[in-house]
Amino acid sequence: MATTPPSKVPATAPAATGDFAKGLAGIVAGRTAICSLEGDLRYRGYAIGPLATAGDFEEVAYLLLYGELPTPDEHAAFSRRVHGAARGLDPAVVDCLTRLAARAPTAAPMDVLRTGVSLLGQIELDQTPGPREALLQQAERLLGQVPAILAAWMDLAAGRPVAPWPEGPLAPALLERLTGHRPTAEQTAIFGTTLVLYAEHEFNASTFTARTIVSTGSDMHSGITGAIGALKGPLHGGANEQVLETLSAIGSADRAEAWVGEQFAAKRVVMGFGHRVYKDGDVRAKLLGRMCRDLARGTAAEPLEDLADRVERLMLEHKGLKPNLDWPAARVYHALGLPVSVFTPIFVVARMSGWTAHIIEQIGDNRLIRPLSLYCGAPPRDYRPLAHRR
Ligand code: COA
Repeated sequence: MATTPPSKVPATAPAATGDFAKGLAGIVAGRTAICSLEGDLRYRGYAIGPLATAGDFEEVAYLLLYGELPTPDEHAAFSRRVHGAARGLDPAVVDCLTRLAARAPTAAPMDVLRTGVSLLGQIELDQTPGPREALLQQAERLLGQVPAILAAWMDLAAGRPVAPWPEGPLAPALLERLTGHRPTAEQTAIFGTTLVLYAEHEFNASTFTARTIVSTGSDMHSGITGAIGALKGPLHGGANEQVLETLSAIGSADRAEAWVGEQFAAKRVVMGFGHRVYKDGDVRAKLLGRMCRDLARGTAAEPLEDLADRVERLMLEHKGLKPNLDWPAARVYHALGLPVSVFTPIFVVARMSGWTAHIIEQIGDNRLIRPLSLYCGAPPRDYRPLAHRR
């Protein structure tokens, strides 16, 4: 291993000192004006509390992309453009999904979204990043197209024809498409809140993936395709589906202690707890946890809330760990009657706003993202031609 760093690498760089941060923990990897986690979670300077309470996804998507809250006219025009994209899904995409649903109807909807965005990039001939205005238009289209792909797939996989995209804002329209019922005002409000809470979170793994991809000069659809792949993992967005599997596996509050003990003994992580950045609890989980308990009170979902409370207390007592957003979000989605397989795809629909905002920010002030590594492999050795090896 070289002991002298190349001249352009500062003497303090990790590869030169033999020091490195596993998983890039604690490393500041760039600047962003989109979201801040310092002290309080803020989108473009606005605290998450009022944005989440308003639960207006289009308002937040506009804020993330354009940097300012929309006026009523801007909000209406933006919502119309996103809605138009959802209604006008390219027939070539629907054709492909139809064939794929006939071939493998049990495919994970996350894989369908990854394929769907990649297809859109191919159909739209997206090769290199365009000017900012073109990128914003692409982002707005994706905001509508992605939930439309998800809803179309759920129809096709169930053997139904693809239903039209409903009128109105994205949150109730998506909820209606995924449950088959027009949601109540209360259901729409809490679903909108989850979309706002999932919309953006600084340099998380999937956003960083998207930024890394476009930092090479690649296109927005490639960045989003990669981000969906990163979000799918259970340590990231996939956790919300695992949370419901966990709660179902435990079954009832009286079995919680034994189940949690088993996980600790087997050194398994409990999904929906812990966070790389929030070490004293996730503000989003606190906000949504309260709303989730209110939603469940007096309904068939109440026993699940009792079980969740019990697990929360045990995790705090034994590990000092608090829930992250996926813990209440999974319970909200379950209470709304959504199938588990769409939990992480809904996260995609929401995070599309944050991802595209970050892609545009990265392209606007780009430098190739390319860190160093600390070599820990075999020492230098001599090559022997194939014929001399046995
Ligand atoms: N269940 C049990 N133990 C956990 C845990 C969990 N959910 N999260 C962290 N820990 C443990 C770790 O194993 C580690 O134990 P060790 O010191 O004995 O090795 C310790 O707590 C500290 O972990 P930390 O450094 O804080 O974790 P991280 O920053 O590398 O990982 C996560 C963060 C999110 C990947 C991790 O908390 C996790 O796997 N959570 C479950 C998945 C999840 O909910 N993901 C969604 C995130 S929003």
